[in-house]
Amino acid sequence: MARACRFVIFGATGHLARTKLLPALYRLEAAGRLPVDFSVVCFGRRPYDNESWRGMAVEALQARYGNRMDIDALERFAERLEYFRGDLADADSYRRLQAAISADAVFYLAVKSAEFPVVTQNLAAAGLADESQGWRRLVVEKPFGRDLDSADGLNRLLHSHFREEQIFRIDHYLGKETVQNVFVFRFANLIWEPLWNRNYIDHVQITHGELAGVEGRADFYDNTGALRDMVQSHLLQLLTLVAMEPPAAMDAESVRDEKVKVLKSIRPIAESEAASCAYRAQYAAAQGMPGFLEEPGVAAGSVTETYAALRLHIDNWRWRGVPFYIRTGKRMAANSALIAVRFKQPPQQLFQSTGVGREPNWLLMGIQPEQCLRAEVQVREPGLKLTTRHSQLDAGTCGCAAYHLEAYEALLLDVIEGDHSLFLRYDEVMWAWRVIEPVLRAWGRERGCIDTYAAGTWGPEDSRRLFEGEGRFWRNSL
Ligand code: BG6
Repeated sequence: MARACRFVIFGATGHLARTKLLPALYRLEAAGRLPVDFSVVCFGRRPYDNESWRGMAVEALQARYGNRMDIDALERFAERLEYFRGDLADADSYRRLQAAISADAVFYLAVKSAEFPVVTQNLAAAGLADESQGWRRLVVEKPFGRDLDSADGLNRLLHSHFREEQIFRIDHYLGKETVQNVFVFRFANLIWEPLWNRNYIDHVQITHGELAGVEGRADFYDNTGALRDMVQSHLLQLLTLVAMEPPAAMDAESVRDEKVKVLKSIRPIAESEAASCAYRAQYAAAQGMPGFLEEPGVAAGSVTETYAALRLHIDNWRWRGVPFYIRTGKRMAANSALIAVRFKQPPQQLFQSTGVGREPNWLLMGIQPEQCLRAEVQVREPGLKLTTRHSQLDAGTCGCAAYHLEAYEALLLDVIEGDHSLFLRYDEVMWAWRVIEPVLRAWGRERGCIDTYAAGTWGPEDSRRLFEGEGRFWRNSL
């Protein structure tokens, strides 16, 4: 007989649940991937009942998917939704929850990280970490701590109530289609491997730009900043996938072992070098958009960075001498997430006189808005005259079925199925904090002022100082 499963969302009325978790679960319903006896228990403080909650969720999903909505799936999904009125800090709410759940259960912490301890402790006190009535899994959102110390403390706390196999530290970037494709691209093809090292690659860039500003999350963001919000988690994860060695197998431990080796090999940034390897700035009002300091909820005179860029070096055999440039910003010129690998120039410039001949090869992995794997090469322009032109070899859209995977969709299914491969082990989190802590400390000391950039642009010109070598520039788009 099929096992019953309850997916409990703490913080169900919040932004993450509304914009990511419920849509992802609805899509799993539409794809026929949810277990037969499965319900979504939405834990919140506000006074909904099942009916009003379902109505609200259905409306939000319809607004999001419009005419792409699968009405039958939506009806089935709405039936699975239950609203559970409770208070995160109230032990009795958890006792009631315990009485209502005698099945396998996922507990998803879609709450502020400051609330992780209270939820975890209350779950355990109510016996909800105990697996005698079914498995129990805990999903913990980022940011995992706000520095190494607090991350260590949080990890100890989780481990005092849950076993490591029960804990899923989520980073939604690992659920994105192109990101998962990096594994296949690198390890299912032979042709890239001989080139994938310091002998052929000049440098790697990882960019995440967003058009949006802080979007009503000022209280969180002003205390967090771009380095903690995006770099410590998503961007360092992308870097590990590009740089890691082939794992012994594609199981969770083998993959995570290799990712940790990359993080350990990143050359530590001395605090005194932060000014030359790290750059931060804040958006200022432009093109009718408010500046960060004008956003409601941002502290007067805040020097929180909304843009962060780093130059990192991985001191191992494969990558020594190849810089990795990573950057992220709010209110940039476009929504764009892109991994761009620039190859070295050929040793001889035989076609220099043809005009275009000096463009190096790039390999582009577009994460969003366009998902693609694209190599840029030089080809001969047909005709009597010898000229070369840029051409693109595209592996992203070659007739594949256009299933548009949403990041949380893949990851929530993995939690339900108990697969840890795309979730972080604590040592990954710990090493990632080690990479950025010296920069956090250096920036923490400069409380007086911060550079600015005009909202709606690609960020400050000054960030180019991270490129020590001649002829390097930010690659903004495909
Ligand atoms: C989140 C950050 O983890 O990722 C947000 O907290 C950011 O600030 C978001 O906007 C970006 O995710 P995506 O999938 O929209 O690129």
